[in-house]
Amino acid sequence: MPEYVNVLGLFHTTRKTLYVGGAAIVAILIVIIGLSVGLSNSSATSDTYSGSQALTTAPLIDGHNDLPYNLYALLNNKLSEFNFSANLENDSVWGTTACSSCFTDLPRLQTGKVGGQFWVAYTSCSSQYKDSVQLTLRQIDVIKRLINNYPENLTLVTNAADIETTWSSGKIASLIGVEGGHSMDSSLAILRLYYELGARYLTLTHSCNTPWADASPATGSPVYNLTEFGQTIVWEMNRLGMMVDLSHVSHNVMREVLAITKAPVIFSHSSAYTLCDHYRNVPDDVLDLVKENDGIVMVNFYSGFVNCNDSRNATIDDVVDHINYIRNRIGATHVGIGADYDGVSSMPTGLEDVSKYPDLFDRLYNNLDDEPSWTNEDLENLAGRNLIRVFTAIEEVSTSLASESPYEDIIDIQELGNAQEAENLTAGACQTAIEWNDYEQSTTTVTTITTDAESTTTVNASAVSARR
Ligand SMILES: *[C@@H]1O[C@H](CO)[C@@H](O)[C@H](O)[C@H]1NC(C)=O
Ligand SMILES: *[C@@H]1O[C@H](CO)[C@@H](O)[C@H](O)[C@H]1NC(C)=O
Ligand SMILES: *[C@@H]1O[C@H](CO)[C@@H](O)[C@H](O)[C@H]1NC(C)=O
Ligand SMILES: *[C@@H]1O[C@H](CO)[C@@H](O)[C@H](O)[C@H]1NC(C)=O
Ligand SMILES: *[C@@H]1O[C@H](CO)[C@@H](O)[C@H](O)[C@H]1NC(C)=O
Ligand SMILES: *[C@@H]1O[C@H](CO)[C@@H](O)[C@H](O)[C@H]1NC(C)=O
Ligand SMILES: *[C@@H]1O[C@H](CO)[C@@H](O)[C@H](O)[C@H]1NC(C)=O
Ligand SMILES: *[C@@H]1O[C@H](CO)[C@@H](O)[C@H](O)[C@H]1NC(C)=O
Ligand SMILES: [Zn+2]
Repeated sequence: MPEYVNVLGLFHTTRKTLYVGGAAIVAILIVIIGLSVGLSNSSATSDTYSGSQALTTAPLIDGHNDLPYNLYALLNNKLSEFNFSANLENDSVWGTTACSSCFTDLPRLQTGKVGGQFWVAYTSCSSQYKDSVQLTLRQIDVIKRLINNYPENLTLVTNAADIETTWSSGKIASLIGVEGGHSMDSSLAILRLYYELGARYLTLTHSCNTPWADASPATGSPVYNLTEFGQTIVWEMNRLGMMVDLSHVSHNVMREVLAITKAPVIFSHSSAYTLCDHYRNVPDDVLDLVKENDGIVMVNFYSGFVNCNDSRNATIDDVVDHINYIRNRIGATHVGIGADYDGVSSMPTGLEDVSKYPDLFDRLYNNLDDEPSWTNEDLENLAGRNLIRVFTAIEEVSTSLASESPYEDIIDIQELGNAQEAENLTAGACQTAIEWNDYEQSTTTVTTITTDAESTTTVNASAVSARR
């Protein structure tokens, strides 16, 4: 049972019965009935309230949508060929049967009551040490052009306060996240410029290790952990006011970052490891650290992360289980939504596309006996206010560090070169920066990097592979 009374249920019961009579005895009875009903079953207390109403009183902010990558994979970012205003469900390019990782358009985002969205600038790990910076810049560009093309429906947002005002004006607050540390090519200068371009989180790794942080496949067999340079990156992000996103990093790196960060962290799209033991999910001890850190885990809906049982398909109830698990362990103020639409090719039954979020909130409110009861306030926090709180705290840490100068560290060139050699590249072969003058080719065998793919897809195997 919940540790609190269902306030909304009580309110509705009270107001209805006040028409009947004004006697004090009646009022007392109402309170008793309201309390007992509220305590026994939240869904039965109100004839009008449904959980999704929370999405009209607070913005739903999703931490991770990969539509920009699909724009690259399917159209090489030619927005002239893309109609975001149309329902694309049955489109010959973007429809469900044509594209297994396409779930997003404006009409369905509106049905889904989405109020804020992190659009992800992502480039594949195969670009690491090659053209990852250029490809990331192209993705930031396409996100900005998409936002500019739909000025009545989307607004670029780069600070916490503007999320709610943008949503109040009926537009989707559109934020930019960069997914994968390989995108900054081990350069703090590039990290800072991504921030200037409007990016507000960096996922420290994608599926490949960077020379300064291990990715999730290295969970159990650490290669680099978080190096000294990796720590400096975290502190520079703290100084900038950029969210440190720990989705995709190894479990050990999650712990190491949480031990040194000066600001709360986010997981933009990760679920609970205890319920589904995929290394992309968050283990219990890390959940506990997130609570201490006052951070947030935004739950990923991907079928392969919420259900590890091959004998059945994932459903909306699996996502409910992950949200409730995290809530029960660390509280409703540390959980959010990071569905990963357009980044994966299989979503649970009941959450087929971005129009379905309201069903999830209704379902959470209609809790089963062994599930926690969600108040309207809890649901508002889950939807977006937790993320806004974390983002605001990150901005405050940045303000408190205003007297610090930008970090001027250059990554140890041996560390960088060795990492390139581990990828069978000739270290520094295509680079001309002066630090490469000092590089000495390694004579020892370097550790091989593990990679993985979060999804396989039938859209276009050559264009859309090994992602998320
Ligand atoms: C975009 O916003 C305009 C103005 O509010 C509205 O008329 C239009 O229906 C919206 N587009 C979509 C696809 O909903
Ligand atoms: C885009 O789709 C909307 C809604 O279906 C339609 O009204 C509009 O004409 C389309 N725009 C273009 C350029 O095809
Ligand atoms: C897409 O096709 C399905 C099946 O025919 C239909 O139920 C649905 O309404 C269509 N969606 C749109 C937006 O036309
Ligand atoms: C990474 O961290 C783990 C756990 O603390 C430790 O056992 C391992 O030696 C570290 N590896 C490296 C390369 O630092
Ligand atoms: C996996 O799903 C099947 C089919 O629903 C069920 O019978 C089985 O108990 C499940 N296994 C586990 C370990 O939950
Ligand atoms: C899962 O869903 C797919 C597509 O609807 C279906 O083909 C498959 O048989 C289902 N698998 C199980 C184990 O139910
Ligand atoms: C690099 O080459 C070695 C030797 O051919 C091979 O075993 C290893 O898998 C390669 N590593 C990568 C990341 O391709
Ligand atoms: C995949 O995309 C490439 C590049 O856009 C294109 O040439 C190829 O025909 C596509 N393959 C399929 C199976 O659609
Ligand atoms: Zn991802």
